[in-house]
Amino acid sequence: MCGIVGYVGSRSAQEVLVRGLRRLEYRGYDSAGVAVAHNGAVAVTKAEGKLDRLVGRLEEAPLPGRAGIGHTRWATHGVPSDRNAHPHRDTTGDFVVVHNGIVENFRALRDELEASGVEFRSETDTEVLAHLVAAHYDGDLKEAVRHAIARASGAYALVAMTAREPGRIVAARMISPLVVGLGRGETFLASDIPAVLDYTRRFLIVEDGEIADVTRDGAAIETIDGDPVERSPITAEWDAAAVEKGGFDHFMLKEIHEQPEVIRRTLGARMQDEVALDGLSWVEGHPSEVARIWITACGTAYHAGLVGRVLFERLARIPAEVAYAHELRYGHPLIGERSLSLAISQSGETADTLAAARLARHHGARLLALTNVVGSSLAREADDVLYIWAGPEISVASTKAYIAMLVGQSLLALWLGRARGVLSASEERKLAAELSGLPAKAASILERLDGPRRVAEHLAGAGSIYFIGRGLDHATAMEGALKLKEISYIHAEAMPAGELKHGTLALVTEGTPVVAVVTQQEVHSKMLLGLQEVKARRATVIAVAYEDDEEIGLVADHVLRIPRTADPFSPILAAIPLQLLAYHVARHLGRDIDQPRNLAKSVTVE
Ligand code: F6R
Repeated sequence: MCGIVGYVGSRSAQEVLVRGLRRLEYRGYDSAGVAVAHNGAVAVTKAEGKLDRLVGRLEEAPLPGRAGIGHTRWATHGVPSDRNAHPHRDTTGDFVVVHNGIVENFRALRDELEASGVEFRSETDTEVLAHLVAAHYDGDLKEAVRHAIARASGAYALVAMTAREPGRIVAARMISPLVVGLGRGETFLASDIPAVLDYTRRFLIVEDGEIADVTRDGAAIETIDGDPVERSPITAEWDAAAVEKGGFDHFMLKEIHEQPEVIRRTLGARMQDEVALDGLSWVEGHPSEVARIWITACGTAYHAGLVGRVLFERLARIPAEVAYAHELRYGHPLIGERSLSLAISQSGETADTLAAARLARHHGARLLALTNVVGSSLAREADDVLYIWAGPEISVASTKAYIAMLVGQSLLALWLGRARGVLSASEERKLAAELSGLPAKAASILERLDGPRRVAEHLAGAGSIYFIGRGLDHATAMEGALKLKEISYIHAEAMPAGELKHGTLALVTEGTPVVAVVTQQEVHSKMLLGLQEVKARRATVIAVAYEDDEEIGLVADHVLRIPRTADPFSPILAAIPLQLLAYHVARHLGRDIDQPRNLAKSVTVE
């Protein structure tokens, strides 16, 4: 949700900033801009639209200079336009800022600044910060930033630079993420580690309520009250190759193909004959104290939570709830002290998920984070962290992180089931063996790419597509519908298969595509009956089913086959053909697959 990058050193700042923005573009692509300090002035170039428009302008008129800041925007206040693109300046033009997040009291601040004669050039909340920094400047940029953020409420990260102190950048983190990259004689700032992985793997994480004072020699971090902070750098595990497309046409396709390896990594050392969880100190010490699990997440991570809820109840017999984070926050939930709050988030930065996790903790729950990003806000706030090790996910539509979230929860459910005496050692071993077999089975699905591609051609002209399933298959249907919607822009709706006849069947007519996920044996015959009803309305049925399921072929028009596995783990495999289906429909329609309209990867605003 907006990407920020900063650089001070001896390279061309413009080059470093553009490369960093390219890596951050998944965070927003409504506009992009850079500001570079040179010869006692700061020059700004910006452009509405994708980064390439900015690059075009910079090619025509390059900005010389060795220090600068850049931004890629996901619009919150003000339409996407050149005027509203960051960086924003004060009226003298000497001060520039970029910002990620929302200044909640910007209206009052703007009124106050306008009353004192300041003329605004944009509709953004960010511009107030440029004017506030300038107004408070008395020879020290850090103090000016400190005063500015004391006036601005909200969740955001701010980076400021001034022509009067070239070679210095000051950044503040008020919730929204910010990291400092440490090089030799050069220092970087970014919203996210991948932005500057080409240059360094050593990072300082700026914590909430801290200010980083950055020069080419490094960064001094202090609290907003001015207390110095000692922070040791972390080393990023990811390398630059992990954030390249690696020969695939899209990041999404690359990430789908990485899934067998991702499953293997998530299982990793945690899976021998039985499950061993690494570093979950509280959960490991108190498995029988967990009276209820509260799962909270948004979007695809929420769909992973739908699967988790069933796994925890089925395999560990622990009552579990799953709630959208933005609903849980305002829903007066009855979370008690013996609750485990499981917050799921690929980025670990989703504002609603963080807030819901904090609420659960406030009610006395222990917080377990299931996340992909080491050092993310969620990871740092949690009592325990189960990392999913999916590697950097660049495509806005999440695929491999979803699969890894399912694997992570499967491990946790097995471990809890065993620790609480619900599963016998032999049951655990049998299920653990099933999990170990999943990478090869996922790989075999990726060898049959023709099916999804062919079915996609039929679906590309549809106005609406229905996704149905029962139990765990319903969760997979939800995820399949979301994937299709977000990248193809075709309307899709998922529901439990049994619900269709209670209203929505009225919309099913000749040729209406109905995608049915049919893997759960307990409800297999019920699914077939339901599909007969759908066929009776002459719908086109596309099924995702086990390869040895012969009955499904009698009702479905097209079947996307997956290898058989234990039913609790079938969502891990069944999601893959649906990801491919969404991909190929979007591709057929010529959509912008990795950067679908109106979306951004990491939603750090409410
Ligand atoms: C959909 C998608 C989103 C995210 C959601 C939560 O493909 O990626 O729905 O799942 O915004 O993001 P995280 O997992 O980072 O909290």
